[in-house]
Amino acid sequence: MAQELYQPPKELVENSNIKAFMNKHGIADLDILLDKAQDLDWYWGEVAKELDWFKPWDKVLDDSGAPFFKWFTGAKFNIVHNCLDRHMNTPVKDKIAFIYESEPGEVERWTYEQLHKEVNMFANGLKKLGVKKGDRVTLFMPMIPQNPIAMLACAKIGAVHSVVFSGFSSGSLRDRILDADSKVLITTDGAYRRGKVVELKKNADAAMAEAPCCQHCVVFKRAGNDVPMTEGRDIWWHDLVDGLSDECEPEPLDSEDMLYMLYTSGTTGKPKGIVHIHGGYAVGTYSTLKFVFDLKPDDVWWCAADIGWVTGHSYIVYAPLMNGATSILYEGAPDFPAPDRWWSIVEREKVTVLYTSPTAIRMFMRHGEELPAKHDLSSLRLLGSVGEPINPEAWRWYRDNIGGGKLQIMDTWWQTETGTFMISPLPITDLKPGSATRPLPGVKADVLTQDGNPAKPGENGLGVLLKPWPAMLRTLYKDPDRYVQTYWSRFPGKYLTGDSVAKDEDGYFWFRGRVDEVLNVAGHRLGTAEVESALVAHKDVAEAAVVGVPHEVKGDVPKAFVTLKVGVEKTDALKDELKKWVATEIGKIAQPDEIEFRDKLPKTRSGKIMRRLLKAEALGQPVGDVSTLDE
Ligand code: PRX
Repeated sequence: MAQELYQPPKELVENSNIKAFMNKHGIADLDILLDKAQDLDWYWGEVAKELDWFKPWDKVLDDSGAPFFKWFTGAKFNIVHNCLDRHMNTPVKDKIAFIYESEPGEVERWTYEQLHKEVNMFANGLKKLGVKKGDRVTLFMPMIPQNPIAMLACAKIGAVHSVVFSGFSSGSLRDRILDADSKVLITTDGAYRRGKVVELKKNADAAMAEAPCCQHCVVFKRAGNDVPMTEGRDIWWHDLVDGLSDECEPEPLDSEDMLYMLYTSGTTGKPKGIVHIHGGYAVGTYSTLKFVFDLKPDDVWWCAADIGWVTGHSYIVYAPLMNGATSILYEGAPDFPAPDRWWSIVEREKVTVLYTSPTAIRMFMRHGEELPAKHDLSSLRLLGSVGEPINPEAWRWYRDNIGGGKLQIMDTWWQTETGTFMISPLPITDLKPGSATRPLPGVKADVLTQDGNPAKPGENGLGVLLKPWPAMLRTLYKDPDRYVQTYWSRFPGKYLTGDSVAKDEDGYFWFRGRVDEVLNVAGHRLGTAEVESALVAHKDVAEAAVVGVPHEVKGDVPKAFVTLKVGVEKTDALKDELKKWVATEIGKIAQPDEIEFRDKLPKTRSGKIMRRLLKAEALGQPVGDVSTLDE
């Protein structure tokens, strides 16, 4: 294992938020803090005090119904009150919340006060449509300010949002609307992507045609493309809010009331609706952003993810607003109109903390050092990475070319399920390139062998979380059994992450990738089963097996092995058709990089496709034990 060690500069350490917290509690070093924070009631209770509660909690953690844990029980709370309303009595009111840059290049600066008013108006609009506490609302929107505004408006009145990434197909959108039983869909006429208008409303219409639960569609006018509006169902955003009050009191909710659901891929073809709630999620996201990325009042924070994924939910929307931070919100593609678009934004807006993914870094690496070198990136003071293991080479490139050869990189390991960073450096941590370092305060993690014993140092094993945490998922929407089965049954009492990982002699975690049939394509999670079921839905396909193969930029990419129905000819044209088919069935991210036709797929005697063999073959590795193979 790499022995390089990057120590944080003294100034970063001394001025860090985590150090201030430690000083306040008379804690001398990180090891003592990590140890003391294993008292979950103490640590999370202390952190939670920094937020505004309508009524305090009776208990920090209620584990009586494990693994259905509850946090801050008895309290009344609303996350949006903490994001917006409470700032209206402080100087944060006039601070910029979002610096929004559209792909064509317009810049809008939204103060906290403006955002607050706009959220209130839209919340009143939702009420006018009959949306009530507990109702589900689906969002299918590009990266524009109205996206967080719609999320916050839902949460303010106690409705539950379900954001669907705008790159998904109409079929994926329909399935998610139906599963959530959403009453309202919020979308835009179109969205800009690489200079072209993507017709979101068209996909929304196709989805709604097969989702009768959806009674209303609110359409924000973004791209000005022509869209049909269905009388009685569809309404323009500006018409909905016209004349409505810009005041709206936050609904006083129970801590455990549902905030949102977000679908993510699992090992079956059916995505899982991860459920997050108001109270504990707020405590977790607020504190991890504050401590890991060390946000200070003058920082300009840029989490360059999409709001359609958990990273955007937690670290573009909720955590920065609770911290009163200024954030960049960029609508478009990173390489449009040129691959230095991001660096021009960093330079112009004097971004201080940048958080992105290894896949983006590898893409920039391919374009060369010259592009960032053309820009003054000296405003940056801290960097971050998320989504997949970062290879040490990309880590060093990032530090050298974006971080001026000196910035620390916070490699944050977490999941849609965890809601917040779990294993991650703090600004006071010594870094090893490629390692997410150690569990954060209040988190306990370990590596187990297949039979549940602690793995030896350096030995790859299964990553588990040993204690509950406030921002954890509460269940899978309408599927509590699958929640228990997926996360808590392999090693009872322990949360199974699904990741392969090794821990070194210093207790540093080295993540290797998923152990299940889940791929990490350009930082997006994709179940191979989803791609397989899309393929077999094609009229010419008999069977399909999909495996992940490594890709230089994207991490993994799907490769499909397909058998065709009798009489269908194996042509290159059909391969192309199948690739496009998957893109329209699921979305472009799921499109196989390569398709190979086979007469037969290798199967066990019980008829299960042996993907392991196909994968070994695709990687040119030995096939291993084939004793269960049918022929
Ligand atoms: O395999 C791990 C990988 O991404 C998975 C979670 O994906 P998702 O729920 O889409 O959330 C992504 C953003 C939080 C994990 O199971 N992963 C995430 N961050 C890292 C990582 N792998 C290694 N290092 C990381 N920093």
